[in-house]
Amino acid sequence: MEYREFGKTGFKASVIGMGTYYDPAYIVLARLLRLHRSRSLKTAALRKGIELGINLIDTAEIYETEGLVAEAIKGFKRDELFIATKVWLTNLRYEKVLKAAERSLRRLRCSYIDLYQVHWPNPSIPVEETMRAMSRLVDEGKIRHIGVSNFSLEQFKRAQEALPRYELVSNQVEYSLMARRIEKDLLPYCEQNSVAILAYRPLAHGALARKQAWLTRVFEEVSMKHGGKTPAQIALNWLVNRSRIVFPIPRASRPERVVENAGATGWRLDDADMARLADAVGTQA
Ligand SMILES: NC(=O)c1ccc[n+]([C@@H]2O[C@H](COP(=O)([O-])OP(=O)(O)OC[C@H]3O[C@@H](n4cnc5c(N)ncnc54)[C@H](OP(=O)(O)O)[C@@H]3O)[C@@H](O)[C@H]2O)c1
Repeated sequence: MEYREFGKTGFKASVIGMGTYYDPAYIVLARLLRLHRSRSLKTAALRKGIELGINLIDTAEIYETEGLVAEAIKGFKRDELFIATKVWLTNLRYEKVLKAAERSLRRLRCSYIDLYQVHWPNPSIPVEETMRAMSRLVDEGKIRHIGVSNFSLEQFKRAQEALPRYELVSNQVEYSLMARRIEKDLLPYCEQNSVAILAYRPLAHGALARKQAWLTRVFEEVSMKHGGKTPAQIALNWLVNRSRIVFPIPRASRPERVVENAGATGWRLDDADMARLADAVGTQA
């Protein structure tokens, strides 16, 4: 596994993380029945990732998977992990942020959260109010770092202005070979300011891991050139190769898929491969 500093945190995070958003059906079942279909397989997948050196795990209060993460990290050294969770957009009032963080801490069975993110901006709640609560959580040692998710560049800058004593360390946004909007303005800004990008849907929700007809030839040629890498490994390597601040967080529900995704590091696509893959997918920034 390769590691890079996550934003300005000083923490060396694995360049590949693990996401934990499953199907809406899972969320509803988890909420209603407290029954978790194939829960043990999901936990095993996360544990396999940690064993392979993946130390960055993303969850959110809305995913109903903080308990799953708690199970998965049991027995591993807490200070070697970087646990990220998120506060949902209806909980962005001052008191609600504080309460949501307490609930997340309880479910995660942790004494602190490494990265607490605002899941989505909510224009009806002043970002200053949310950020005051986030600052208090840092002051009290309940969270280590503050991040946001789904914030445009303008929203990111406003949120940073609302946070005089701390720096936003990350923005979690969609980024993959098939979704490159952030390359226009957000990515260059984050590169210049050492803000980490947590790339969600890095496999385009699985589409980039399947052998789609219109990608097959280029993927196959690139794969052969690099000793048989899989489409998922190529798509993830493209992201980490594209920028030092990008940390993809693919979700995989089975251990063997986590093993495959971890194999996206330790080798490099060259410039020609990068360009060919971008052309093949056909979405330019
Ligand atoms: N901040 C936000 O608003 C936001 C929004 C969306 C997602 N996220 C975060 O980003 C994470 C990733 O996004 P995502 O789960 O939507 O999409 P994704 O990671 O791009 O794709 C997940 C899909 O790819 C499959 N997959 C993973 N590795 C594979 C492999 N090696 N071979 C074949 N298939 C593979 C998974 O299958 P199985 O799971 O069945 O193995 C799943 O169906 C989420 O889990 C969540 O933590 C954040």
